[in-house]
Amino acid sequence: MRIVLGVTGGIAAYKAAELARLLIRSGHEVQAVLTRSAEEFIRPLTFASLTGRKVITDIFSSASPDATLSSAVEHIGVAQEHDLLLIAPATANTLAKLAHGLADDFLSTMYLAFTGPVVLAPAMNDKMWAHPATQANLVALRARGHYIVDPGTGFLACGTLGQGRLAENETILAAVEAAVEAALQPPVRDLKGEHLLITAGPTQEPLDPVRYLTNRSSGKMGYALAQAALERGATVTLVSGPVSLNPPVGAQVVQVRTAQEMYDVVIANLDTATTVIKCAAVADYRPAAASSEKIKKAGTPLTLELTPTTDILAELGRTKGNRILIGFAAETGNLRDYATRKLEAKNCDMIVANLVGGPDSGFESDNNEVLLALKGGEFIDIPKAPKAEIANRILDQIGRFRS
Ligand code: CTP
Repeated sequence: MRIVLGVTGGIAAYKAAELARLLIRSGHEVQAVLTRSAEEFIRPLTFASLTGRKVITDIFSSASPDATLSSAVEHIGVAQEHDLLLIAPATANTLAKLAHGLADDFLSTMYLAFTGPVVLAPAMNDKMWAHPATQANLVALRARGHYIVDPGTGFLACGTLGQGRLAENETILAAVEAAVEAALQPPVRDLKGEHLLITAGPTQEPLDPVRYLTNRSSGKMGYALAQAALERGATVTLVSGPVSLNPPVGAQVVQVRTAQEMYDVVIANLDTATTVIKCAAVADYRPAAASSEKIKKAGTPLTLELTPTTDILAELGRTKGNRILIGFAAETGNLRDYATRKLEAKNCDMIVANLVGGPDSGFESDNNEVLLALKGGEFIDIPKAPKAEIANRILDQIGRFRS
């Protein structure tokens, strides 16, 4: 693939040099474009040496007094001659310019003329990342189908600890490969126009500052659903409990910890959602009171008082309107009966029921084997398959509900 690597002005610009090398090693051709601010952090010569090509730094960089026309339309030529645009690092300013269509330098002008896949790897201070303006720009860019490689959490150049660090080069490379693959095979975009709100993973209910109640959910099923939905053209908001998975590129991911936090985030994101899939293994109970001090052992039995959490799915069932509502049921037996009961009790359109406790399906596994219980009394057995495959079979039902 012929890739334009846009580098914008952040401290992480130096990492883009290694990224250029990795892209070339993976067989891509790289045309580096540096913004003026990027040049403050890294020299064009570094990229020229790595890519073996002249680096573009300015909208009129190749202009000479008698060659005005060709240089003035260089951004169009570069846009037409390349297959993928990657911007890493992408500053808050660049995201804002792209989101609003401002064209005041080579990169932002070329972006407007570019029709291929766009991968953006933002990097900035954590407060700038969390700012509603930046988040609104990201929503707009995701809605355009751009891949956003979310920044990681760690120590930032400004000395604070938070989210904003440029994603690892390997993660960015994986997003580029995913975008390349998607571009090569025109995907089935049957969920275009749908906004899926998907919950995934376990919740953690604190007992004291060092202990919590949780369950064995790995989040893999919910993340597979988010990934498959994105590939099929949906906009995805993924509300995730604590898991150790890389978020799917292109999803808006909100991390939560407790059942109450999950409830709050789901309700806050409900307005625009057309389908809700409650895949998370939400705690049914939490400690009645979380101690602010570490609980000391006393050598005598300890009784914990637990209080029920809000059943998010049941609450959504009461106010669902035209939304498609899909719940999950993890059971150790009587799948049909329990699935049917939950379908009715929580007013869902479908319950995805799976047997847990077996050796290679359900929690933590890469495979799953489920029974779909649909409103109206239909059951569909989906035999053991990778979770990505199961996810697509579940999403197939959305089309049926809509027709
Ligand atoms: N769920 C939820 N909020 C909760 C508990 C569960 O939204 N506080 C959702 C889960 O995300 C899942 C579905 O409800 O989609 C099934 O959860 P489960 O705990 O298995 O069902 P319950 O109705 O609580 O029944 P039981 O625990 O008796 O099996």
